[in-house]
Amino acid sequence: MSNAAATTAPHRDLAFTRRLDAAAAETEQLLDRLLAVEPLDGELARPRRLLDAMRHASLGGGKRLRPFLTIETAALFKAPRERALMAGAAIECVHCYSLIHDDLPAMDDDELRRGRPTVHKAFDEATAILAGDSLLTFAFDVLSRPDTHPDAAVRIALVAGLARAAGLGGMAGGQMLDLAAEGRFTFNIQLTEADIVILQAMKTGALIRFSCVAGAILGGAPPSAQDAIGHYGAAIGQAFQIADDLLDVEGDPATLGKSTGKDAAHGKATLVDMLGPDSAHARLDALVQEAEAALAPFGAEAATLRAAARFIAERRA
Ligand code: IPE
Ligand code: IPE
Ligand code: MG
Ligand code: MG
Ligand code: MG
Repeated sequence: MSNAAATTAPHRDLAFTRRLDAAAAETEQLLDRLLAVEPLDGELARPRRLLDAMRHASLGGGKRLRPFLTIETAALFKAPRERALMAGAAIECVHCYSLIHDDLPAMDDDELRRGRPTVHKAFDEATAILAGDSLLTFAFDVLSRPDTHPDAAVRIALVAGLARAAGLGGMAGGQMLDLAAEGRFTFNIQLTEADIVILQAMKTGALIRFSCVAGAILGGAPPSAQDAIGHYGAAIGQAFQIADDLLDVEGDPATLGKSTGKDAAHGKATLVDMLGPDSAHARLDALVQEAEAALAPFGAEAATLRAAARFIAERRA
């Protein structure tokens, strides 16, 4: 899918769209090369059905927003693009795994993703679970390679950061809270607005935030700059899930490539449900401003990251 379709016409920023499309195309090529048929050193074989399911989940679709954020943040700190592509591809593997598992019948039970059948529909549930497991593991394989960064200390910082963003205290933990908030495990769950903000910061914000911080780590940015980028990433991460939840109410399934109206049907806890769409739109605007403010120390060089914040709030896909 071209990301041009995901940008709203009045705010279309062609330079931004070109950069997003270029990052998406390069990420696609790299993932295609990484997920090859031939086993690597230390692998005994690559079972074809599992590889095909991993490729179904990770190739031929998606905005590639997370790799884009890594590439653009790395560019801000003058890190080589090839290294940012490796780190971005690893993060995209974690993202694609999260989508496979998110769509399973035991979780959100969805049949359409990126305009195609979800992995458990195109294959079967067991294959989908294993494809998710393998994409998650593969992300750390990619990060550990010298092509990602020649300095092992930098690679370890990336591995640790991704582990924290993806696991118990990050994305997987947030998915647990998301399901708990449906009232599956306990009756009478009463979430406050602050609870929902934390849930969403974990399930979605943590990986988006790390996508940004990874570029700063690759570029050897000083701690104060890494903090500023982390603040930016947290703001756009929060905005991203609010936009996703608004699209679930207001979006077009054909453009989105996934079903809509599912959050209300499942009783999901969202800020859109709690505050109403108007307040959610206002919150989005405030978060874009917060993200832009976090970029102030970087001046004009952060123009693409500023545009990314606006894109996240205004996207239609
Ligand atoms: C969807 O993410 C899942 C959420 C975290 C809300 P994206 O909207 O980035 O999905 P793709 O990668 O573009 O398909
Ligand atoms: C997904 O949130 C968050 C993940 C960690 C995958 P959603 O469940 O709202 O994402 P969609 O709407 O299915 O893409
Ligand atoms: Mg979900
Ligand atoms: Mg879902
Ligand atoms: Mg959603």
